[in-house]
Amino acid sequence: MTAATARAYPNIALVKYWGKQDAALNLPATGSLSLTLDVFPTTTTVELVDGPEDAFELNGGVATGTPAARVVAFLDLVRERAGSTARARVTSVNAGPTGAGLASSASGFAALAAAASAAYGLPLDAPSLSRLARRGSGSAARSILPGVSVWHAGDDESSYAEPVASPELAMVVATVDGGPKAVSSREAMNRTAATSPYYDGWVTSTRATLDEMVAAAERGDYTRMGELTELSALRMHASIQACDPPVRYLAPASVALFDRVAALRSEGVEAYATADAGPNVVALCRPQDRDAVADALRGSGLAGEVTVAGSGPGVEVTDGRAGAAS
Ligand code: DP6
Repeated sequence: MTAATARAYPNIALVKYWGKQDAALNLPATGSLSLTLDVFPTTTTVELVDGPEDAFELNGGVATGTPAARVVAFLDLVRERAGSTARARVTSVNAGPTGAGLASSASGFAALAAAASAAYGLPLDAPSLSRLARRGSGSAARSILPGVSVWHAGDDESSYAEPVASPELAMVVATVDGGPKAVSSREAMNRTAATSPYYDGWVTSTRATLDEMVAAAERGDYTRMGELTELSALRMHASIQACDPPVRYLAPASVALFDRVAALRSEGVEAYATADAGPNVVALCRPQDRDAVADALRGSGLAGEVTVAGSGPGVEVTDGRAGAAS
């Protein structure tokens, strides 16, 4: 097997991952839970080549700097496990408009983990791929799985994502122009752990939030899932804002969108808001309410692009599947 292509979708966390217990192995301080979406996949091809260096092309252009360095470090890990010295050409394309507000590092490293595993002959079962994807970007561990999944904290062996039974969910992504991101999520995460007086409280409370979220999902309690989703997002942002120097990801329009979503609830549409390390806001809702939520967010005048998403598939090797493992 010398080339393979894989496709993976972004995910949005209902219980956020924010903080590491081990940076080298990328082990999270707590578990987290997310919904893999059915929009804007990343498709990645890994082709083994004879040359002396890896090459990484993203959306048709040659990637350099930190993104390229992260891909090379990831390939080094794959090569070490596969006992190979072969270099690779990686070609990756993110579907959908740029800046659509859906984190591409999760779908990106999930697709890369699967394509590289197939090309280098590593195992392709979900726990192995999830463990490997975690090393590229923590949230990528969850984009290996379809729908709702929980990514366990733990050690290198046990920290991977698994499916969770859940009611059907939908999400509406509202982009907010907050200007260029001043601080990367990786840096802000480290700064929060090092300097935020609320970090310990965040970690302790998130363990309890996750247990409660999994229980709510398993009993089909959408309302509690929604309440916990907003709680986790706002607690994460509170701990981030308290780091030194402070980082504030939510723009005025983001806060106004949280208020608009709360107003929707009083109007009888049960939606809940969340936001990652940026100003965009994602509303969680029942599938039958997704168009009403999208109309309301469009009509608010607060959002740029509004995208409706449902529960999406797990990662898939679409071409060049290695025969060795599954
Ligand atoms: C706010 O997975 O990008 O989206 O492991 O350092 O690559 P690294 O971090 P990353 O962080 C995602 C943070 C988040 C919350 C979440 O997706 O759970």
